[in-house]
Amino acid sequence: MKEILKKLNQKRDLAIVGGGKKRQESQHKKGKLTARERIDILLDEGTFEEWDMFVEHRCSEFDMDKQKIPGDGVVTGYGTINGRLTFVFSQDFTVFGGSLSESHAEKICKIMDKALQVGAPVIGLNDSGGARIQEGVASLAGYAEVFQRNVLSSGVIPQISVIMGPCAGGAVYSPAMTDFIFMVRDTSYMFVTGPDVLKTVTHEEVSHEELGGASTHTKKSGVSDLAFENDVEALFQLRRFMGFLPSSNKELPPIRHSEDPADRIEFSLDTLIPDNPNKPYDMKELITKVVDDRDFFETQPDYAANIITGFARMTGSPVGIVANQPMVLAGCLDNNSARKAARFVRFCDCFNIPIVTFVDVPGFLPGTSQEYNGIIKHGAKLLFAFAEATVPKITIITRKAYGGAYDVMSSKHLRGDVNYAWPQAEIAVMGPKGAVEIIFRGEIGNQDKIEQKTNEYREKLANPFVAGSRGFIDDVIMPNTTRKRICRSLEMLKNKKLTNPWKKHDNIPL
Ligand code: HXC
Repeated sequence: MKEILKKLNQKRDLAIVGGGKKRQESQHKKGKLTARERIDILLDEGTFEEWDMFVEHRCSEFDMDKQKIPGDGVVTGYGTINGRLTFVFSQDFTVFGGSLSESHAEKICKIMDKALQVGAPVIGLNDSGGARIQEGVASLAGYAEVFQRNVLSSGVIPQISVIMGPCAGGAVYSPAMTDFIFMVRDTSYMFVTGPDVLKTVTHEEVSHEELGGASTHTKKSGVSDLAFENDVEALFQLRRFMGFLPSSNKELPPIRHSEDPADRIEFSLDTLIPDNPNKPYDMKELITKVVDDRDFFETQPDYAANIITGFARMTGSPVGIVANQPMVLAGCLDNNSARKAARFVRFCDCFNIPIVTFVDVPGFLPGTSQEYNGIIKHGAKLLFAFAEATVPKITIITRKAYGGAYDVMSSKHLRGDVNYAWPQAEIAVMGPKGAVEIIFRGEIGNQDKIEQKTNEYREKLANPFVAGSRGFIDDVIMPNTTRKRICRSLEMLKNKKLTNPWKKHDNIPL
């Protein structure tokens, strides 16, 4: 008995030290934590239950049978985040560069399978040199097993990836199929083909950071949702983030008690909209003034900033916020913003998170670049996403809601449950000036007439009352009551039940 206990302890020590002290120090020198340190920060203290600590690879090529490290480069198991069950895998770069062997993949698949069965999220902490080169196709098979599970879990349990080191080649496709990707600045990168291959094939010279660093993916490609300064910040923010999500599609998101009164009146909102309809204002000010405790967790803040997406709470219950941002491109919808918001809306709908939409949209961004890059299909994604969503949908038109963009932005016609407008709202086919210049094209030179007709158009058509008279908006509300009206609506919609016709799956314009 004593002997076996000694052996157990030796094996545990071996697994815990991973690739050895020297490699751990080198990890620290790069500003990175080790796989186990990361789990310790992510999960509630003392809750981690580790599985498969003794798993080893089965490769004998290239002398690999002489190099076996228990755990094989990935730490897996489950624990809790603020008391809620969460599965986690954390790749250990100190063991064969965190590369994925057949056994390493099997460990990840085991926790993914269990998470799906019990209905709990999976968080992947990625730090890997990719496929275990010594194992060849066995490693590729391992990746595909993980991919398949990513797909089956999609829309059933939340899947979150944090990129905390290299993530290259086909390995990027597992994070890509998860719901959200966080990255760490300066120490993580993602690309399908790296700088060396690029240099040979396309003669482009680009650094790892420029090609696939956190800045690139949060600002240019939109692949990543958020970037953080270091591992600790990323993991703390992830803990906060998980508090907005339910454990699975069969549950409601967790309620967190708030002292913020549901009927709080916010008088400053009455003067938020400038007198000049062409002057911007910050939509984020409205969001933070309306939600519980000014607590707004924005996703993709640096990508397609003309639309804002993120999570907040109203009377303790999480909601997804979608809002046009008049400060960027006047809040127009374009290719990137439509794709960004569509994916966000679909996530909320998968996971029973009500959607609150704030609308101030002058239309779709005109231009050849938009048309050539497929605004027809990309715009349709957002339209499709709002239209298919069955979660409670509350829409507030603060100012402009013009043309097709009015329809798209969670309008009554797309089964918006409660649609309100502020008194300054202008709901029309297009802006008054554009409309008059078309209707009275022959009189463009007559400045007085054009001005008079523009005012006439604004009074007659570009206001909230035409839509109100048809019931397309449910009420014109005072801006200061916005929080109160949303809270009441959410309360009323608590037991909403709406199902779409049976289908294998839809065919969203991808
Ligand atoms: C086996 C690997 C490895 C790999 C790194 N190592 N990547 N072992 N398979 N893929 C080992 C190294 O041999 C080294 O071992 C240790 O990990 C640390 O690596 P270093 O190179 O010293 O670290 P660093 O300088 O930080 O560079 C990290 C790196 C580099 C950029 C990731 O290691 C690298 O380029 N690796 C190869 C990446 C790659 O080509 N992977 C295959 C991609 S294709 P020692 O013993 O010295 O500590 C792919 C296909 C997936 O992944 C397809 C899915 C469908």
